[in-house]
Amino acid sequence: MQADYDVIVADNLSNSVDTALERVKEITGKTAFFYQIDIRDKAALTEVFNQHPIDAVIHMAGLKAVGESCAEPLMYYQNNLDASMILFEVMQSFSVNKVVFSSSATVYGDPDTVPITEDFPLRMMNPYGRTKYMVEEMLRDITLASNMQAVLLRYFNPIGAHDSGLIGEDPHGIPNNLMPYIAQVAIGQREKLSVFGGDYPTVDGTGVRDYIHVVDLAKGHVKALERIAETETKQGQCLTYNLGTGRGSSVIEVINAFEKVYGDKINYEIVERRPGDVPEYFANPQLANEEMGWRAEKSLDDMMTDTWRWQSQNPNGYKDD
Ligand code: UFG
Repeated sequence: MQADYDVIVADNLSNSVDTALERVKEITGKTAFFYQIDIRDKAALTEVFNQHPIDAVIHMAGLKAVGESCAEPLMYYQNNLDASMILFEVMQSFSVNKVVFSSSATVYGDPDTVPITEDFPLRMMNPYGRTKYMVEEMLRDITLASNMQAVLLRYFNPIGAHDSGLIGEDPHGIPNNLMPYIAQVAIGQREKLSVFGGDYPTVDGTGVRDYIHVVDLAKGHVKALERIAETETKQGQCLTYNLGTGRGSSVIEVINAFEKVYGDKINYEIVERRPGDVPEYFANPQLANEEMGWRAEKSLDDMMTDTWRWQSQNPNGYKDD
């Protein structure tokens, strides 16, 4: 919205709240059109396309918890694949031919080497990752057969919050991911962080990831829209980019960086490895830089500062509104 796009949001609010959109209005001074629909409801989605001329779609609707996907695989295939197929069908019927898809670095699985470039072999390790891969494949096929232009963005580990402290991550229940867990220990909602594994072949034995500030990630989407807006070919095209910083940080490094802005110690304990975790991965983000002019600008310290601002200003997330 700050890049001057008119935004239409379609969300079933299964893992979000519309308060976030009120907060977006405070930040931007603009209102997004909002439809509380499930995009698997083809009639409801068609109505949205009937209401607005649409230039491009950013498709980030999907379930995204690795553990849950192993317990409920069918729910993941049903939700993530059906939603995508219906969306692409509706787009085609309205001749909307530009799409940016939220994919994930999870498609690389456990890479042989780091940093990871986009041409690395794809080795998904769980149903969630396979749904991301399958939607990528769908788009590769659709773009070959039509004038659809797609950009697949493979996110590394998004963390942080908007620097206003107004919008941020508010997971349901016990957080699966490192950053919201640390933030909840800091605010006193959880007693202790479990660090999963201290004996990996990494800098200090803990898992290494490429953490990327969520605002840098958002800007990557704006760049992707610009990238496909400029390619007005008749033939379709499917482009793939890593969105990461190119820098890996261990769990201990993240804890230390958080403690600097928090001003106190985070209670943690090193425990067993978490099944399915990969020791180390981080991106080579050069292609996104060369072809889209995008580069992550924010540091790990920015990510910690913004996470803590969000969590301390909103101890209960959006629940207090
Ligand atoms: N970790 C802990 N304790 C916790 C949570 C995590 O030590 O309580 C560790 C993990 O073992 C890992 C690191 O912190 O080393 C990051 O773990 P996250 O759960 O935050 O993130 P993952 O790298 O496991 O996965 C995330 C998303 C996936 C996505 C993947 C792609 O959750 O959806 O990044 O890079 F597919």
